[in-house]
Amino acid sequence: MRVAILISGRGSNMEALIKGVKSGFIPAEIGLVLSNRAEAEGLAKAKKSGLKTLFLDPKEYKGKEEYDRAIVETLRGEGIDLVCLAGFMRIISPYFVDAYHNRIINIHPSLLPAFPGLDAQQQAIDYGVKYSGVTVHIVDKGVDSGPIIAQRVVEVKEGDTAETLAKRILAEEHKIYPLVLKALAEGRVKVKGRTVMVKE
Ligand code: GRF
Repeated sequence: MRVAILISGRGSNMEALIKGVKSGFIPAEIGLVLSNRAEAEGLAKAKKSGLKTLFLDPKEYKGKEEYDRAIVETLRGEGIDLVCLAGFMRIISPYFVDAYHNRIINIHPSLLPAFPGLDAQQQAIDYGVKYSGVTVHIVDKGVDSGPIIAQRVVEVKEGDTAETLAKRILAEEHKIYPLVLKALAEGRVKVKGRTVMVKE
């Protein structure tokens, strides 16, 4: 399985996936790391790891769909089977979702469907929930609304700020994302409508 990782920033989830692949835990190949931001820290980290990287500048395209068409063309050119969004701060167009139907996954720092969109950890603090967590899901045409593959719960502690909660959630993100990619690469994930079954 050839995987592409799409990032916009720090790339710590990307690093967790790279580690999983390099150690042989995940039987996949990372064919490309793509960013929509030239200055994304993760891009430099991916280069250092010896991976193929690409910055595609959204400003050079007429609109969202044009940009996503360029991404899809690139991914196809690289023989990519699966796309992992890892802090990719753009909404994927319907064109892209259809081109890689059920083959784009995302990680989100809340227990979806609670707190989709931006600042999920702050949303959790503001709402006063006692538990939040992390979700890995298939990307559909909505925002953070696709079929859920896996979730982990993280307790919200008294005195937590968005930052302290984000840190504890991130530690779980780095565990769950490689596990999900491993399950996908090993063909243990079945999708039936909104139901996703993962074989142990
Ligand atoms: C993570 O919290 C992820 O869940 C969200 O964006 C953040 C990306 O962090 N989608 P990083 O770039 O992987 O460090």
